[in-house]
Amino acid sequence: MSDLTILALSGSLRKESLNTRLLKSAAEVAPDLTFDEFLDLAAIPPFNEDTEHPAPPAVADLRRRIRAADGVLIATPEYNGSLPGVLKNALDWLSRPIDDGPVLDRKPVAVIGASQGPLGSIRAQLSLRQVLHKMNANTVGQPEFVLPHAQQALAAGELPIGSPAVEILTAVVEGLVTLIEVSRVVASPGR
Ligand SMILES: Cc1cc2nc3c(=O)[nH]c(=O)nc-3n(C[C@H](O)[C@H](O)[C@H](O)COP(=O)(O)O)c2cc1C
Repeated sequence: MSDLTILALSGSLRKESLNTRLLKSAAEVAPDLTFDEFLDLAAIPPFNEDTEHPAPPAVADLRRRIRAADGVLIATPEYNGSLPGVLKNALDWLSRPIDDGPVLDRKPVAVIGASQGPLGSIRAQLSLRQVLHKMNANTVGQPEFVLPHAQQALAAGELPIGSPAVEILTAVVEGLVTLIEVSRVVASPGR
């Protein structure tokens, strides 16, 4: 699995984002994987059908990096019981059939999230999964990773080594790797 690249996408713009920290923990649990971090959704303009062509540079860059990656790991905050607008906006751009098609179509994707509330972003993750389902992404179903009261859990910067949360996070990343391997076999059955 050492030749795989994962695009890590944070749904938060905040410098001290707990979700961005969570992505860094995910990179720690999978040292064999190469993580390409996309942490600046602020560069993606509001979606507007009038300005789709040519794609704004940040959108073209994100599309290129998704195509280049074997899989995508999205960490979403929860805003008002749903996914943040900046993340939905980016997904709307990515859903459009430009050049060789919508880039998340059949792409292996895993969803995780952290929130400061008691539900650990589960409602945001469900909303995000609904959008990814419509986009025909190939998502990891189980396990689900939620991190409630994340400011305490991530107080040291990353998740404490050996904690139950690390075990579940590791299983999610392994699930993503399995999806990638299966999709490779389906794409090239003779390999
Ligand atoms: C506009 C807004 C809405 C929020 N709504 C929720 C919510 O519905 N559930 C929740 O658990 N936390 C909610 N929060 C708190 C977030 O969990 C907290 O700000 C978290 O740190 C955001 O993720 P980040 O650290 O990656 O930026 C909300 C925060 C903001 C700014």
